Amino acid sequence: MAYTVPKLKDFSPTALDKASEKLAAALAKEAAEVQTESDWKSFRDRWMARKNGVLTLVNDLWLKAAPKENKRDIGQRVNQIKQQVEQTVDNRLAHVQGAASASRLSAERLDVTLPGNRRPLGAEHPVIKTMNEIVSVFRNLGYSIAEGPVIETDYYNFEALNFPPNHPARDTQDTLFVATQESKPLRDRLLLRTHTSPVQIRTMEKMKPPLRIVVPGKVHRNDPLDASHSPMFHQIEGLAVDTNITLGDLKGTLDHAMKALFGSSVKTSFRPSFFPFTEPSAELLVSCFICGGSGKRDLEPCRPCKQTGWIEILGCGMVDPNVFEFVKGNGYDPRKISGFAFGMGVDRLAILKYGVDDIQLFFQGDVRFLEQFV
Ligand code: PHE
Repeated sequence: MAYTVPKLKDFSPTALDKASEKLAAALAKEAAEVQTESDWKSFRDRWMARKNGVLTLVNDLWLKAAPKENKRDIGQRVNQIKQQVEQTVDNRLAHVQGAASASRLSAERLDVTLPGNRRPLGAEHPVIKTMNEIVSVFRNLGYSIAEGPVIETDYYNFEALNFPPNHPARDTQDTLFVATQESKPLRDRLLLRTHTSPVQIRTMEKMKPPLRIVVPGKVHRNDPLDASHSPMFHQIEGLAVDTNITLGDLKGTLDHAMKALFGSSVKTSFRPSFFPFTEPSAELLVSCFICGGSGKRDLEPCRPCKQTGWIEILGCGMVDPNVFEFVKGNGYDPRKISGFAFGMGVDRLAILKYGVDDIQLFFQGDVRFLEQFV
């Protein structure tokens, strides 16, 4: 039962002592129950409100009601009670606020001795890094960068590169075709580009000669994946077109590029090859930059060059006049201009460069592998 201020009949000191004790006990008990600031507000109002607060009632029922001869004594007691109540109310506020800020502090505690949050720096992916290096060698020769779509039409990937429909050279490309394209004419059917060469045509359609471009990008082939094959890999294409471009320009440019990439001591060698869009066509070999061309490493057979002392780097050749026929309208008259083109596999170069033994490591996204290239 909550405490109520009684009316007094007996104003004797013993009766007053008793009444004061009851009041003090109620004050102490209610104070102890105050835990939050809103508890405290009702507690304060119950005891100190001008209207109907306990102190007001004590004043009315005890002091005002007292006979004259007891007034002095009661006045003193009521003053004491007033002080006691004010003190208790104040103390309880301090207690409640202290507890709140203590719990806030412990929730927000800042330990300045803890190490800071590290934000690890990312690293350039080894394939991208290799790509950037190759691109920058050609930029220094005045080449610009061109790009094209990874999902390509049959026309750009094959037809305009002088692979006629049903020509067996198409079979060498292990193409991944986009499904349900059969209702379209062959040249509009979509596929995943098998090389970056379609960007040769796309760029010549847009820009008139002279032209010097490199084309970095992703390509896809239906190769089962193993340590040296991935259905997705990267190429960099090169194309230079101008009047009087010769095979000598092709050889000189690529010899320079290989020395810039692998060191000035490497030698280059060209071996005849075939691509439908270049004539003549060649493969470029560089002397093995791992064993220095000897085919041996510390008397062990050199694996990267298969003991031959040479590593195959890219395919290249003089642009076939049939290719220029497809973009003749934009200033590429094969009787007036000529050009060379090349295309290399970036992932293979990155593998050789970093001594990686499995191409899959490039694409699995394992941070422990990638961190080594920071
Ligand atoms: N596109 C050819 C390939 O992927 C490479 C190449 C590019 C050959 C340019 C000659 C000229 O194998």
